[in-house]
Amino acid sequence: MTDLMISAEGLSKRFGAVRALDKVNFQVNRGEIVGFLGPNGAGKSTTMRILTCFISPSLGQAKVHGHDVFDEPLEVRKKIGYLPQRAPLYTDMNAYEYLQFAAGVRGLDASTFKSRLRKVVEVCGLAQALGKDIQTLSHGYRQRVGLAQALIHDPPILILDEPTSDLDPNEKAEVIRYIKEIGKDRTILLSTHNLAEVEEACARAIIVSKGRVVADGPLDEIRGKSGRSRYTVVFNEKANGKSGAPPTATEVQDALAELDEAKGVRELPTDEREHKFELTSPEDTDLRPDIFSLAVDKGWTMLELRRDTQSLDAVFRELTRGDEKLDRGERWARASDDNDDDDFDDEDDEDDDQDDQDEDEGPDEPEDDEPEEDEAEEEDDDDDDDDDDDKEKD
Ligand SMILES: Nc1ncnc2c1ncn2[C@@H]1O[C@H](COP(=O)(O)OP(=O)(O)OP(=O)(O)O)[C@@H](O)[C@H]1O
Ligand SMILES: [Mg+2]
Repeated sequence: MTDLMISAEGLSKRFGAVRALDKVNFQVNRGEIVGFLGPNGAGKSTTMRILTCFISPSLGQAKVHGHDVFDEPLEVRKKIGYLPQRAPLYTDMNAYEYLQFAAGVRGLDASTFKSRLRKVVEVCGLAQALGKDIQTLSHGYRQRVGLAQALIHDPPILILDEPTSDLDPNEKAEVIRYIKEIGKDRTILLSTHNLAEVEEACARAIIVSKGRVVADGPLDEIRGKSGRSRYTVVFNEKANGKSGAPPTATEVQDALAELDEAKGVRELPTDEREHKFELTSPEDTDLRPDIFSLAVDKGWTMLELRRDTQSLDAVFRELTRGDEKLDRGERWARASDDNDDDDFDDEDDEDDDQDDQDEDEGPDEPEDDEPEEDEAEEEDDDDDDDDDDDKEKD
């Protein structure tokens, strides 16, 4: 059996004038927990909704467990557990009834439901919550019920759209713990804005920005994408230097900025006994000897010197810079100017023809089809602006 669990090939999605996805390509293999990152509006939920058959792509193809999401949605749904970004949950049921309902929708018989229930209650820590009305549960517990719902039919693949958003730090940590547990024998695509969670749960991340994949790989590789190293250096603010006086912050700042290849020198907050600075250099340069020599020359007491690759956070900001300000609907006509200056761009931008063709599809008109059972269950009520596209899939 193949190890390829999810594949997206040239996925594009347009909502009227807004191009939500532009030729997104990626693959996820069996057993991976992949972080799916990007600023607000980058296209994460849109991708996930395509993969879970809630909406269809304007162009491109997606397969889940070898089944095409457009041609074989029922097969896809059997293989996938999905926690939507705003899980509706039926709040007038208790957690047990809701999970029973979710199992029924997926065609589980009573005895399979019983044994699966035992398992998901254990994995998601739901024993205390099972008899309680969902509307009385805390947000964290609701998310656990949402996870349990996604797991009830024992799918090999999970698509989790911001499962920890709005949770307090303790609940976040719990949910991530459950996800790691669940991920031991499953493939998971996990979207989140919390990069620490990605560091904790995922070995690999895909970063999307403006509807495009801008980075995809092991976290170490992504951290290295910025091509820069980051240094933290701390000097004692009280000890006298060679000049006979302790260094001032400006002196330190100016001296560091004068080093060859040093960039972005800035002071970091610290207590009154230290000057703490951060700076960067190209990755293939090592400024540590220069910083050390500087300290010796000046007679400054160095308390700390550290060199790291850039943090995931810094790389994320660099790769997705400007995304949040972009009105993609209007900017689209100007194609991909923004992306031409980065290394992660897709090779082709000759898609004017394709754009026209896309537009010819017209707006995403609702068809008169009934949403399938799962849709009614997972994504039904609370989200007016999503209604259009929920109905578009035929
Ligand atoms: N049903 C819809 N109708 C119109 N535009 C939509 C619809 N769904 C998404 N969009 C637009 O598509 C773009 C991508 O949205 P999407 O929800 O996929 O982003 P996201 O990466 O999940 O963001 P967030 O982090 O805020 O959840 C946005 O510009 C959004 O406004
Ligand atoms: Mg989203």
